[in-house]
Amino acid sequence: MPSFVKVLMSDFLLWVEARGLWKTLSSAPPYIHHLMLDRLYDWKFSTRTSRFIMLKSLSADCHHLKHSWHCEPTPFYKSEQILKSALQLSQLNPSEVVLIDFGCGTGRILMVGLNLGFKTTIGIERSENLCQVAKQNLQIFSNKCNKQGQFEIVVKDASLFEIPHEANVLYFFNPFNAQVMESVVQNILASHRVAPRSLWVIYLNPCHGTIFEKNGFKCQPNIQKGCKLYWLA
Ligand SMILES: C[S@@+](CC[C@H](N)C(=O)[O-])C[C@H]1O[C@@H](n2cnc3c(N)ncnc32)[C@H](O)[C@@H]1O
Repeated sequence: MPSFVKVLMSDFLLWVEARGLWKTLSSAPPYIHHLMLDRLYDWKFSTRTSRFIMLKSLSADCHHLKHSWHCEPTPFYKSEQILKSALQLSQLNPSEVVLIDFGCGTGRILMVGLNLGFKTTIGIERSENLCQVAKQNLQIFSNKCNKQGQFEIVVKDASLFEIPHEANVLYFFNPFNAQVMESVVQNILASHRVAPRSLWVIYLNPCHGTIFEKNGFKCQPNIQKGCKLYWLA
């Protein structure tokens, strides 16, 4: 059996396990479409960012495991659209963006950020396995595409990560539950108190968006359906 068919079948089974048969079947056409595009990007950059990975298959030894979501990357085409719209709405120049992806998985958002000319991209990820893959992906990508930007991958639970004072764009795609998000938002506010600056939060699938709102972040026009942008002056 050709290897891409095996990969598709195993992805399908993982999705059924995680989301149930009906949700999997109803989202199959757009899923197959973006899966093909994602594999094309990975082929172009010689990277490995496209697999849907179940939480239980990761070597996670952190106490927040029960608050975590699976590793499902933001589709490539969507990542580009989202980051470009955020640049437009924030009027930031790519070369001044220091982006943090909370729960960076295999590093796709960081790659897309570097490709757009961001100054630095930082990924926080609690799974050591995923961090290894992310590091390899970023190394291969920056060698191949000769991008100037810096990248850093930190193996850490996001709730324990001290936000660098130069960070100005913070990305979340459904990484964890409200409890962890509360701690992360308090860390963001702590960094903002020490170094007041404009902070932009991109939140795809914003299940816990109210945590930002009740902590003084202003909701901006939606970047696209299901993706919110918050701003802290
Ligand atoms: C839905 S994936 C998003 C991947 C990536 N941000 C993207 O958009 O392509 C969520 C990721 O968050 C990670 N994660 C979950 N809980 C975490 C935590 N408490 N600290 C750090 N990473 C976490 C998971 O291991 C997973 O890789």
